[in-house]
Amino acid sequence: MPKFQAPRGTRDLLPTDRAVFMHLEDIARDLAMRYGYAPIETPMFEGSAVYERGVGEATDVVEKELFRVQAGRGEAERERWALRPEPTAGLARAYVQHGMRTWPQPVKLTMTGPMFRYDRPQAGRYRQFWQFDVEAIGDVGPAIDAEIIELAMAFFGHIGLTDVQVLVNSIGDTACRPSYVETLTAYFRDHEDELPELERARLETNPLRLLDSKDERMQDLIAAAPTISQHLCHDCRAHFDGLLAHLEGVSIEPRLEATLVRGLDYYTRTAFEFYRRGAEGQQQALGGGGRYDGLVELLGGRPTPGIGFGIGLDRVVLALAEQGAQPRAEPWRPAVVVVGADPDDSVVRLQLATELRGAGLACRPDLSARRLGKQLDGAAKAGAHFAVICGDELEAGHVQVKDLMAGTQRQVDVTELARDLLRAHAQHRHGEDG
Ligand code: HAM
Repeated sequence: MPKFQAPRGTRDLLPTDRAVFMHLEDIARDLAMRYGYAPIETPMFEGSAVYERGVGEATDVVEKELFRVQAGRGEAERERWALRPEPTAGLARAYVQHGMRTWPQPVKLTMTGPMFRYDRPQAGRYRQFWQFDVEAIGDVGPAIDAEIIELAMAFFGHIGLTDVQVLVNSIGDTACRPSYVETLTAYFRDHEDELPELERARLETNPLRLLDSKDERMQDLIAAAPTISQHLCHDCRAHFDGLLAHLEGVSIEPRLEATLVRGLDYYTRTAFEFYRRGAEGQQQALGGGGRYDGLVELLGGRPTPGIGFGIGLDRVVLALAEQGAQPRAEPWRPAVVVVGADPDDSVVRLQLATELRGAGLACRPDLSARRLGKQLDGAAKAGAHFAVICGDELEAGHVQVKDLMAGTQRQVDVTELARDLLRAHAQHRHGEDG
């Protein structure tokens, strides 16, 4: 085994894996833009306080999983920064910092990139993973809540992941949650001796988090706990009914899930998660999101509502593989390889390839001094559609074009070459798609 390995819980995305991610990222970006979400990029690390305040101190993500960055000297600098465990808090920080409340509301933003959580690695759970994130800040909903859920479902549809369902719940707001938390606390107090240590401590600091505990010993207790849906205030109930009506309007049938609370503290009202039917375990959420009407204010802005979701691309890739979806062709595969009968004349091959690339073809020259036969073998192995053979005829302005897939060969005028190949390759691809 080599001495140096990628850190535990991370992995290298080799070119074929990276191509699959790129394909998903392209679909994500195009789709989000079609719905009016503008791309943005925030730093991969923020002041730790952004997450401590935004996500919440007594959450798994902050308490156990934050990658704190030690940089600079002295106590004051130490642990001041943290790698982003999720994008929403950083985006809300950016909303406040750049005065986005003066922009037309809601501000619709999208971002895709790596997130970091010091989680126990296992299938579908990594320490560096990728999220496709979408946020609409400045709209109270509930219509936009439905629109954003529909966008996520459209993403799953576009990438060909079948059988995804959305689980929804309302987790109340500052008006109704406190009395629910009291009821919940009383329930867990009655079972205090059955609680694992961390949960017993959390009962004092953040009782709601007991509901998304990953501890096996908690699961029966959680299933029997009182649910927030029985305690919603009038406004939250109306908001939730509005969400359901709008979801119906866009033909989405959610599963109502009274125990869904999500693992981050900033959520209010709408909360949702995406699963494939029959794959609803802890590491199997393909994505999740919800409303966070208090987050912007927590980070120093004015009271501003917001909603968004994050889809875990690593899990999406796993789900696609399980479903037997074929990874796409490798986009760096050349359409054309330029080979030469004179093994020493690589200048001509380089020149022609440069010209063809300039015309928009994926093309590479064989710059080796191998014999022509070997060069042609190499072109076929690389999966090229055409080999352009430079020989003596070049002096008369011609080359041979060999169709490596059809096994045919013809002479083409060099001045016509790029146009000819572009047309022939496009026709072939059209045939493949059709
Ligand atoms: P989250 O539920 O913590 O929400 O993460 C969203 C998705 O990221 C999960 O459903 C899962 O697919 C993926 N994910 C999370 N942790 C891991 C991991 N360790 N390895 C692989 N995939 C993982 C959020 O992060 C919120 N910021 C979503 C949101 C946006 N809410 C409002 N706006």
